[in-house]
Amino acid sequence: MNLATIRRKLVQWYDRGHRDLPWRRSTDPYAIWVSEIMLQQTRVAAVIPYYERFLKCFPRVEDLAQAPESEVLSRWSGLGYYSRARNMQKAARQIVNSGEFPRDYDSIRALSGIGDYTAAAVASIAFGLPHAAVDGNVRRVVMRLAGDARTDVGALATQLLDKRDPGRWNQTVMEFGATVCLPRAPLCAECPVSGECRAYRLDIQQELPPRKKKVMIRRAHTLLVIRRKGRILLTPSPRVSGFWELPETFSGVRLGPKLGEFRHAITNSQYHFEVREARIGAHPKTCRWWDEQKLVEIPLSTPTKKALRYLDAASIAP
Ligand code: ADE
Repeated sequence: MNLATIRRKLVQWYDRGHRDLPWRRSTDPYAIWVSEIMLQQTRVAAVIPYYERFLKCFPRVEDLAQAPESEVLSRWSGLGYYSRARNMQKAARQIVNSGEFPRDYDSIRALSGIGDYTAAAVASIAFGLPHAAVDGNVRRVVMRLAGDARTDVGALATQLLDKRDPGRWNQTVMEFGATVCLPRAPLCAECPVSGECRAYRLDIQQELPPRKKKVMIRRAHTLLVIRRKGRILLTPSPRVSGFWELPETFSGVRLGPKLGEFRHAITNSQYHFEVREARIGAHPKTCRWWDEQKLVEIPLSTPTKKALRYLDAASIAP
């Protein structure tokens, strides 16, 4: 494994052509930071439309700092892991109070919601600072090159870093992990560095990194569509504060016909939702009637959004 050869070949590979991702056209640290936060738990293809809408709505860090939290959460709705959005707004206020976007690794790392990976990504991509960003993709690439699950990935990633252009380097490794050095079926026949890869030589690339056993939890839920005179009953989300959801069964509910069903996966849980029309006498105090016309303006959980697609099929209760 010759580090200089790997560096040179991977950069050549990246420069020959890579995905044209919207954040790669920006040099604005704020925009780069937004993209990295969105990309933390979410695939590139899913992030792109959110990224573009988010920046249209909050083009500058000051806009994000001043926005009502409910608006930020609405723009985030669908991406999940809402603590990311809340922390971002906290960090935006920290940035505005300090006068400018921090320009060194430690100050970037000190912002709310920013860990080692994101600090390194922003510091290198926005400011060209020599920090290796190590996410799941990079970890896989580095561990395979070394051909050993016991590799000190952080140390090797730092040795590998191309100090001439750390931002380009970090994006090169991310791109390579996302398009060639794939988790299940790496495209070794197309790989520019297979000649330097110890895992390839030992034919153990599929076994690295070792997979953690994932336990899938399956759960069934019923969401209730309770409507009255153009209004619909919602309850505050017990999981994501500030969000509203269709209620689940409570005492005194009379279930009506099924309107639809769908699946929804969050990390290691697979949910099955049934959507049913229902009628009630009284409702729990925490529930509120919302004008159906206003639903587009309030933060709704993703399962509730999915369930509301069946709404037109429901007969309006008197
Ligand atoms: N994943 C995390 N950060 C990324 C980036 N900047 N480009 C592509 N994929 C990424």
